[in-house]
Amino acid sequence: MNKKGFIFDLDGVIVDTAKYHFLAWQRLAKSLDIDFTEEENEQLKGVSRVKSLEKILSWGNKTISQELFNELMGKKNEEYLSYIAEMDETEILPDVPRVLDSLIEKEQPISLGSASKNARVILERVDLKKHFDAIVDGNDVSKAKPDPEVFLIAAKLLNRKPEDCIVFEDSVAGVEAANVANMISIGIGSESVLGHAKYVFKDFTEISEEFINELIKN
Ligand code: BG6
Ligand code: MG
Repeated sequence: MNKKGFIFDLDGVIVDTAKYHFLAWQRLAKSLDIDFTEEENEQLKGVSRVKSLEKILSWGNKTISQELFNELMGKKNEEYLSYIAEMDETEILPDVPRVLDSLIEKEQPISLGSASKNARVILERVDLKKHFDAIVDGNDVSKAKPDPEVFLIAAKLLNRKPEDCIVFEDSVAGVEAANVANMISIGIGSESVLGHAKYVFKDFTEISEEFINELIKN
């Protein structure tokens, strides 16, 4: 059978950790007297921890010392880790295991391609680590999405050409990264946000066996 490379983002694609990132960023913004809206949070999806804090500070017109910056980053991650510690398999988004199992059955190489430095911990918590042939996360890259670095490393590890890779992404930055990498981008979320993806599905329940077969064939 034809072998493609299937690359999955983590946050917002495999698990709904976006809500935990939001809670932690919101508390941090509040401590700095910055209003932080859901729309702004949308722009932080897929964006690295450092870049996220830089954006929040610029939206709030605040300048802080490097020392405070580092302290806030640490605090944000501590709070985020406290949410992750409670996670289990029930937080896997609908039909993600079905799609992963189907790809494994069809002997398709699978990689994670996430901006998060906590990706490995999360995959362990939800017991999905064994489904992946490769894991590329925030610890492995020097350039954040929308730079395609994370996906290009994943393609290399799977031994696949970029154009033979398919990326599942929920963020604007991530879809852009996949497109720049010359991969097939599949947006998971709303068409109004992810219209630049080649395909958009509300969630994995909409991804049929026929569609998976088509992706592998073409
Ligand atoms: C991305 C999330 O997957 O990872 C972002 O969408 C997050 O919201 C980024 O900022 C970095 O994650 P972490 O876990 O390293 O802070
Ligand atoms: Mg994401």
